[in-house]
Amino acid sequence: MEKPVAKPKSNLSSYCPSKTIIIAIAISIIIILAIIIPIFIVFGKPYQLQGTSSVTDSYSPSQTTSNPTTATTTVPSSSPQTSYKPILSIPDELWGYYEVRPGAHMFWWFYGYRGSQLRSQMPLILWMSGGPGYSSVGKGNFGQVGPIQLDLKPRNKTLIKRANVLFIDYPVGTGFSYVDKMSAYSRSDNEVAQDLYRTFAHVLHLLPSLQLLPFHLVAESYGGKIGSMFGNLLLQAKKEGRIQCNFISCILSSPLLSTADTIEFAGPYLNAFSLIDAMQSQQLLNQANSIKQYLQQKRGIDATAVLEQSLERMVNISSKANLHNVINYLSENPFTTLVKRNYTDIQSLQNNPTIAPTAAYAVMNNQIRHKLGIVPRHVKFASSNILVYALLRESICYPSIANAEAILNANVSVLIINGQFDAFVNGISLQKTIKKINWPYMKLFQSSKKAVMKDDAGRIVGFIKKYRNLSFMTMIDKGHSPILSVPDSYIGSVQN
Ligand SMILES: *[C@@H]1O[C@H](CO)[C@@H](O)[C@H](O)[C@H]1NC(C)=O
Ligand SMILES: *[C@@H]1O[C@H](CO)[C@@H](O)[C@H](O)[C@H]1NC(C)=O
Ligand SMILES: *[C@@H]1O[C@H](CO)[C@@H](O)[C@H](O)[C@H]1NC(C)=O
Ligand SMILES: *[C@@H]1O[C@H](CO)[C@@H](O)[C@H](O)[C@H]1NC(C)=O
Ligand SMILES: *[C@@H]1O[C@H](CO)[C@@H](O)[C@H](O)[C@H]1NC(C)=O
Repeated sequence: MEKPVAKPKSNLSSYCPSKTIIIAIAISIIIILAIIIPIFIVFGKPYQLQGTSSVTDSYSPSQTTSNPTTATTTVPSSSPQTSYKPILSIPDELWGYYEVRPGAHMFWWFYGYRGSQLRSQMPLILWMSGGPGYSSVGKGNFGQVGPIQLDLKPRNKTLIKRANVLFIDYPVGTGFSYVDKMSAYSRSDNEVAQDLYRTFAHVLHLLPSLQLLPFHLVAESYGGKIGSMFGNLLLQAKKEGRIQCNFISCILSSPLLSTADTIEFAGPYLNAFSLIDAMQSQQLLNQANSIKQYLQQKRGIDATAVLEQSLERMVNISSKANLHNVINYLSENPFTTLVKRNYTDIQSLQNNPTIAPTAAYAVMNNQIRHKLGIVPRHVKFASSNILVYALLRESICYPSIANAEAILNANVSVLIINGQFDAFVNGISLQKTIKKINWPYMKLFQSSKKAVMKDDAGRIVGFIKKYRNLSFMTMIDKGHSPILSVPDSYIGSVQN
């Protein structure tokens, strides 16, 4: 779980589509002119539209159920109903909205591979950020791996030089994805995974050539939980013949597969790092135990409240160590505001966000939304959304080990990556979580020898343990986003 950042107020109840659209068009024209002209001055030329069009689609009804404790099995219906023509060649770039449930609009953004090889021979990657509520478009695309950085300069080491890449802003309410009414927000992780699946299936229907490409799922942190749920839905849908997709691998970077495990071992981890003492470690263990008990009693909100408190305590007692990278310190405790929130007071969550949106993402509400041209005016991009988080508190702590298990047993290769300095999704807990996966070769995996990983210059960057389709990597000197520092050659090697 990452610290959610509040989304600025959007007045949902007074939103009226027909009026707003007319006003929005008029105002956007004025704003576009006002924005584009200064960009010309600042950046020389505006951020280019490269052979692009946008697509919106509408609701396809489906009934879904939700049970956070077990592997996800209900595959939502995804057959797109409305008129659009499938696009046969793989485009340079394409984005759109898909209404996954009435009033729930998911935003997706696809980039075709750019390089010397044939686009149709390169894989497809779905890149998922964490949160809950971190925008994959803001953080993943602009912040980490897309062709353009948040400062609008081109990124040298972009993923689209290696693959076709898709970003989806999930859960709905995050990034450019939005709801028309409060009731359209996701209320469970299962629903989040189903919304994601529906959007993914929509994009594959729209761009059928993607169905044949080797598909790799890459997910970070809480994205690792939703990603494993999504991956299992995808496999079920494949089995039922409802989707064609060549699902090859699932890469989970610091995945929050089991919150109880992460908290159980955060104490020993911080203690081994001399940041807390044995007594403090024991107190954290008590909190981990109450998370487990609450989960057994199906009291998800109570479990999440303890999670928030234990994160706050860890930062407090370690002199504000950054749990995502413990060799650094924070100036203030990011979890104090999370603990103090009144999560039943939705109005105050909407009206009084005490955590400000990150300034780094301002560009999303200006140049980028104008480039996209389809983001409704009332939708304000925020790097994450406190309401999304608030409404998911019931399900955040439930584990998703069963989904990772289903993916591995379906012969999809699974790579789990740990950052050595990540105290939250720490290496000890990940090893324990992996051990719980029921897989015929788990004993052989456990007893296989770990190998040293080196970068191109021959420096040691980490360790890898691999048996058949399961790999576990530890990136040394790295924190909560270890995927970004794995040398390319190793990513390929674990995928047969
Ligand atoms: C990207 O590559 C160019 C040319 O190789 C180099 O001048 C520039 O500094 C690089 N930018 C970044 C952000 O690394
Ligand atoms: C953490 O420190 C803050 C500020 O000093 C304090 O208000 C809060 O009660 C502390 N929380 C815990 C769990 O120790
Ligand atoms: C939280 O908000 C709800 C709804 O506004 C209110 O009934 C409740 O008293 C508040 N709780 C606290 C502890 O302030
Ligand atoms: C996975 O691969 C193994 C070994 O190649 C094979 O025996 C098994 O049937 C496969 N399972 C599935 C679900 O494809
Ligand atoms: C790994 O998964 C692939 C499918 O992606 C399957 O063909 C293969 O048998 C599996 N490998 C092993 C060693 O189990």
